[in-house]
Amino acid sequence: MERLQKVMAHAGIDSRRKCEQMILDGVVTVNGQTITELGYKVGPSDQIEVRGVPIYKEQPRYILLYKPRQVISAVKDDKDRAVVTDYIQGIEERIYPIGRLDYDTTGLILLTNDGEFANLLMHPKYKVDKVYVAKLEGIPDIKALRRLERGIVLDDKKTSAARARLLSSNVDNQTAVVELTIHEGWNHQVKRMFEAIGYPVMKLKRERYGFLDLGRLQVGEWRELTAFEVNKLTQEAKSQVKSENN
Ligand code: URA
Repeated sequence: MERLQKVMAHAGIDSRRKCEQMILDGVVTVNGQTITELGYKVGPSDQIEVRGVPIYKEQPRYILLYKPRQVISAVKDDKDRAVVTDYIQGIEERIYPIGRLDYDTTGLILLTNDGEFANLLMHPKYKVDKVYVAKLEGIPDIKALRRLERGIVLDDKKTSAARARLLSSNVDNQTAVVELTIHEGWNHQVKRMFEAIGYPVMKLKRERYGFLDLGRLQVGEWRELTAFEVNKLTQEAKSQVKSENN
């Protein structure tokens, strides 16, 4: 469910502020009933009309992008750097990224125009596996990797159980490649976890998000999720959010 003024603005009626004014002016109806309350929430099946004209609702879009390095996970950047939506051509709807990957991180990122879906996937209780591959300065031993797995305290909060696997190491250069699977999506989490055990990240890529992986996509390429994938993600997230509430 989303606020009425947000849905109206999203459908291109006007700015959110102007849409609020229209609601206060009593020109907006939901399922035939005039709504003058700004906190009113609507769902996908609600019929919204402005001065008797039904609003066009955008078709929901769900996109998986292989984000390149040096791209901002946003729809615009005040420094005019490349943003993730620059890569998505031929989609009219106003999509935005679900969560963020750092400017210098590559890999799997989802985009949508479905606010409910985005909120669900970003809910702190939705703990889907996120698999990262990091190139590190230094070669961590088993003990260091176990520390990551047991959890690292970042900003007074401990990361939940993770999995860490050494994929390769280069003794001459003193670098290593480690796969880390985590559940949360805190800011710079992977970099901070490795930093905490003394192995700074040189390169970072997100390879998986839940059951989704990059498949055959090349850097900068994207595809739409299938209806099956969208439903599976939605159900997974809903069941976790609900079961943790009980
Ligand atoms: N963790 C990080 O440190 N950076 C990312 O981009 C994603 C997870």
